[in-house]
Amino acid sequence: MNDLGVVILAAGQGTRMKSSLPKVLHPLGGKPLFLHALTTARRLKPNKLAVVIGHGAEAVQRAFDRDDVTWIIQEHQLGTGHAVLCAQDAFSDFTGDILILSGDVPLIEEHTLAAIIKTHRESEAILTLMTACLETPTGYGRILRGGQGEITGTVEEKDATEAQKRIREVNAGVYVAAARFLFAALAAVKDDNRQGEYYLPDIVTIGLAQGKKIETVRVTDPREVRGINTREELALMEKTLQERINRKWMKAGVTLKDPQTTYIDEGAAIGKDTVIGPNTHLLGDTVVGERCRIDGSAYLTDVKIGDEVHVKFAVVAASSEIESGAIIGPFAHLRPGNSLGRNVHIGNFVEAKAATIGEGTKANHLTYLGDCTIGRDTNIGAGTITCNYDGFNKYRTTIGDRVQVGSDTTLVAPISIGDDVYVATATTVRHDVPAGALVFNEREERVREGWTERKHKKMKDKNK
Ligand code: UD1
Ligand code: CA
Repeated sequence: MNDLGVVILAAGQGTRMKSSLPKVLHPLGGKPLFLHALTTARRLKPNKLAVVIGHGAEAVQRAFDRDDVTWIIQEHQLGTGHAVLCAQDAFSDFTGDILILSGDVPLIEEHTLAAIIKTHRESEAILTLMTACLETPTGYGRILRGGQGEITGTVEEKDATEAQKRIREVNAGVYVAAARFLFAALAAVKDDNRQGEYYLPDIVTIGLAQGKKIETVRVTDPREVRGINTREELALMEKTLQERINRKWMKAGVTLKDPQTTYIDEGAAIGKDTVIGPNTHLLGDTVVGERCRIDGSAYLTDVKIGDEVHVKFAVVAASSEIESGAIIGPFAHLRPGNSLGRNVHIGNFVEAKAATIGEGTKANHLTYLGDCTIGRDTNIGAGTITCNYDGFNKYRTTIGDRVQVGSDTTLVAPISIGDDVYVATATTVRHDVPAGALVFNEREERVREGWTERKHKKMKDKNK
């Protein structure tokens, strides 16, 4: 079988995005736009994979740091034909077929690509292009056909006559071509059009003039070939992608109470019988186990969650691990680096950062736990604060097992509190406390009977 090469076009600025960020780096489903086509193309296991870059080349390269990609620099963006021609040297000793994809067409599926390659090879065409029939073809190049339905050429929207603009069959921007033909034909492409660009689809007319066989394959689901040229298209695409991902998880046994407002990144995973409420974001590589409940308004990024965890309303969490049986929220904030053991409870208005918390430990109300290690079955009272920062450095707090930390406690780090310690309420702890001790601040408590009445009388007399 012929070798397979892939060229992905990703050098354009994306003028219509009105952005200083290169178009192909705009995130879609949590990852840069061009990585969608790239990831799909890699699944075909091509012998050679090249990406043409130009605008923000370094940043684009950084977004995919693997050595199985050949990066091709297109210094000036003179058009899609010129972009492919820039890859000629990289394919100088290549005699197989080249699949060309656009970095701004993200939803194309592997089986669709496999199908066009198959047709191309079976029909022994020199060039095969994918087409699609769109309700609103605006913005796309149109496919021109003759009396027998044979392709006779293509025309870009900007060069099209009114009659041609009414054609609904468009060029999907996906091509398979014999490498030898491709680069020879591209050398003959001219820029004599309204945009002054070297159009890749012009190789159709060049091939036809040489009497070569050119095939077309019409895609069954036109949504797959939707390109992103504007922010509006990006938003619509995000929606389509979201729907696709949501359907996948519902099929896998996850309940989404309101799929319309559930945002699951491609890298995220959810176990079965987990129930997810409205306005939930599962971002990055977030993994949620089985039989969990996420009540709603959760914003979870790169969080690993075990089974039967209950994430109550309004939780923001990032780069943390939560073991099975834990209860988090409502209104909790887990900043990066937390590791919460089984059955840990983190309640309302609790913020944790780089906290390692043992099984069964609870911090249910109004607390800041930063840079600390807490043992198991410890109770952190309301209003406990780890004072981890002195304006220069961060320090750790260590708390043992079965410790009772009273309400309104401040723990001045670095500090270590042993197992089974009692910290009396409203204590400022500045020194290490040995296991089994009670720690409290000496402070006398006084009661003045009748004080309120005397105070009120005094104030009234004064205001007379
Ligand atoms: C292109 C096709 C059009 C097709 C549509 C499908 C041409 C001339 N037109 O139009 O027929 O219907 O795709 O989506 O090919 N790029 C470069 N270097 C350049 C120019 C573009 O790398 O010099 C890249 C862009 O980054 C983008 C892709 O090529 O990823 C397509 O370019 P774009 O300008 O979006 O082409 P369209 O106008 O959408
Ligand atoms: Ca485009």
